[in-house]
Amino acid sequence: MSQRNLFVTTALPYANGAFHIGHIMEYIQADIWVRHERMSGNRVHFVGADDVHGAPIMIAAQKRGITPQAFVAEIAAGRKQYLDGFHISFDHWHSTDAPENHELSQEVYRRLKAAGLIYTKEIEQFYDTSKKMFLADRFIKGTCPRCGAPDQYGDNCEKCSAVYSPTEVVNPYSTLSGTTPVLKKSTHYFFRLSDPKCVEFLRAWTQGCGRDGQPTVQAEVLAKDSEWLGPDGNLADWDISRDEPYFGIAIPDAPGKYFYVWLDAPVGYLASFKAYCEKNGLNFEEELLKENTEQIHFIGKDIIYFHTLFWPAMLHFSGKPFRVPDHVNVHGFMTVNGQKMSKSRGNAIAPQDVIDMLGVEGYRYYFMTDVVPGTDGAISFDRMEQVYNADLANSWGNLISRSLNMSGKYFDGCAPAKPASFDAFDNPLAKIADGLVDRYMAKMDVLDYGGAKDEVMELIHAANHYIEDSEPWALAKDEAKADELAFVIYNLLEAIRIAAHLLMPLMPQTSAEALRRLFCEDEAATDDLTGICAWGLLAGGQPVEKGDPLFPRLA
Ligand code: 2FM
Ligand code: ZN
Repeated sequence: MSQRNLFVTTALPYANGAFHIGHIMEYIQADIWVRHERMSGNRVHFVGADDVHGAPIMIAAQKRGITPQAFVAEIAAGRKQYLDGFHISFDHWHSTDAPENHELSQEVYRRLKAAGLIYTKEIEQFYDTSKKMFLADRFIKGTCPRCGAPDQYGDNCEKCSAVYSPTEVVNPYSTLSGTTPVLKKSTHYFFRLSDPKCVEFLRAWTQGCGRDGQPTVQAEVLAKDSEWLGPDGNLADWDISRDEPYFGIAIPDAPGKYFYVWLDAPVGYLASFKAYCEKNGLNFEEELLKENTEQIHFIGKDIIYFHTLFWPAMLHFSGKPFRVPDHVNVHGFMTVNGQKMSKSRGNAIAPQDVIDMLGVEGYRYYFMTDVVPGTDGAISFDRMEQVYNADLANSWGNLISRSLNMSGKYFDGCAPAKPASFDAFDNPLAKIADGLVDRYMAKMDVLDYGGAKDEVMELIHAANHYIEDSEPWALAKDEAKADELAFVIYNLLEAIRIAAHLLMPLMPQTSAEALRRLFCEDEAATDDLTGICAWGLLAGGQPVEKGDPLFPRLA
C-alpha cells in the first residue's frame, strides 16, 4: 500500500481527575501502533485532548469555588509530564473547550439540522428542587431498566452496556442531594437517529471496511452494534441538548441551551487535529480529504455506542470535509481477580506501583503483550514478575549483556568488522531473521502485539541458544578460529540490532539505548523498518558499550 496518512486518536479523558491505569493502557496501545506505523514510513497525526464539558466538571468546580475553565486548566497542566513519563508520543493535546471545538461542533450541528436530522420536543426531565437544576444523567442513579443492576448511572449501564433515558431508571435518586427528583418540562433538541437513512447508513458502515480493507470494527463490536440496530433498525433518537446552568457549547439560536457533552466530545478529535494542523502548517480540510487519509479511534468498550453509532452518523450526515472513521479499535477492561478494576471497587492498581516494579518499559511490555488488546485482560503482580523476568531480564537483557560483553572482550571494545567470510558458515540467526519483518508487520498492523512480540522473541531465544551452541569463549582460545569468532559475535550483534528495531514501538527508550550501545543510535529514527532490518547491515568495527543491565532481574 502507498504511504498512509493516519489521523489517530484515543478517547478524550474527562478533565476531572488524573489518568488512571485504564487511560494509560489505551494510550500505550495506540502509541505502539502509531510508532510502528511511523517506522514503516507512514505519516501519522496522533492527537488527544481533555474532555472538559458537562455537569460533573461544573459541579466539581463549584465545590472548589473556581470557574470550570480554571478547574480544567489545572488538570490540563498535569497531563504532559504524565504522558511523557509513559513514553506516549502524542503530536498534540487539546481541549474540547477550545475555540476550534465551539466552531466545529456548531458547524456539525448546523449541517445536521440542514439535513433534516434535528428536531425539538418538550420532554419531562428530572429536576433537583433543592439544587434548583435539571439533573444531568450522571447525577441520577438507580436500577438499570434492562438488566436490573442496582446503582447504575442515569444514561447507561456499566453491567449490560444498555443506553437509556434517565426517566426509565427504576427508583431514581439525585446524587447531588440524595433527594428523589421531580419531573419538570423543558424543550430539548434531538438527533433523529431513527431516521431510515441513518439506520441504513449505520448498517452499511458497521459492516464495512476501512481504507486498508480491514473490517471497520471488530467482530464482537459488530455483534453489539447489530443487536442495537436490531432487525428493524429501532434506534432511539438522541437527546443532544442540556439546559443551563451547564458547562458546554451553546446551541446556535437556542438561548439557554447547550450541547450535551457527548455531542461536542468526539468533535474534539477534529478540533484537536485542526489546532495541530494549524500549528504545523497543514490545511485541516485538505488533510481530511486526502485520498490516503484514514481516521482511526482507539476506545474502551464502554463507549462503543457513542463511537460506532452516534459519531459516524454525525460525521456522515455533516458531509465533507468530515469523513467517517476507518476504524474504531475497541479494547476491554483490565480485571483483577475476575473483577473490573476500579477505584470504587478498591481493586485499582496504581500506574506508579507497576512502574516502581517493572519500570515504564517493562510496564508497556507486560500490558501490551500479556493483556491482549481487544478483550478483557486479567492482570496480577505475580504474572508481571514472571513475564518481566522470563522475557526481559533473562532473554532480551541477558542477550544484550552477554553479547556486548564478549564483543568488548574479544574485539578491543568494538564490534567485530563484518567478516569477509560472512556467507561461509551456517547462519541459524539469519534464517530466523529471513521474513521476520514481514511476519512481525502483519501482526503489528492488526494490533496483535503479543504475536509480534513472539516473532521477535523467537530471534532472541535463538540468539541465546546460539551463544551456548557456538561457545565463543572456546573459539577465542584458538587463533585458527578467529574468523568464526568474529562471525558469531557479529551475528549476535546483528540479532540485537534487529530485535531492538522491532521492539522499538513497545519499548522505545530501552530499544534506543540498545542501539546506542551498539553505536547505531542514528538508526533509531528510521522510517524504513524493512530496509533497516536487512541482515548484515551492521558495519562493524564501531565501539560498543556494555553498560548496566537494561532489565535487572526482579528478586
Ligand atoms: O468516557 C469518557 O471518558 C469520555 N470522556 C470519552 C470521550 S471520547 C470522545 F468522544 F471524546
Ligand atoms: Zn444493565
